[in-house]
Amino acid sequence: MATERTFSILKPDATARNLTGAVNAVIEEAGLRIVAQRRIRMSDAQAKKFYEVHAERPFYGELVEFMTSGPVVVQVLEGENAVAKYREVMGATNPAQAAEGTIRQKFAKSVGENTVHGSDSLENAAIEIKQFFDEKDIVG
Ligand code: CMP
Repeated sequence: MATERTFSILKPDATARNLTGAVNAVIEEAGLRIVAQRRIRMSDAQAKKFYEVHAERPFYGELVEFMTSGPVVVQVLEGENAVAKYREVMGATNPAQAAEGTIRQKFAKSVGENTVHGSDSLENAAIEIKQFFDEKDIVG
């Protein structure tokens, strides 16, 4: 297995409930290293671009509105098999289907307000990281 980087967002429902540290603890306990992290307010343009693959979905407007409704924490995570590992640690998109001990099982409120985002492939991870971080700000 190779060392990989994946992109993570702690969503507005997480920051609103002061869960940054609790979510980060689950990430770190799983062996993933937080090699870059920044708390930002996502602009409407940033959210629309980030989720443009979902532009035709009925929930797109709601998703963009939610992601711009409060602060988010954008992160780069590094580790062995990081893309798949983080998806496992997050749990299913719908918290009702998320496995015991996963971030979404522990903290998510609904399929929309589901606490975290993680890249779905290594290719998308690189694209997503570039949208929010300069290489010089990633310290492995
Ligand atoms: P995320 O991994 O950030 O990528 C797309 C997001 O769309 C997903 O997490 C969910 O939060 C959101 N999403 C998926 N299905 C729905 C839905 N039915 N209603 C609202 N949001 C959804």
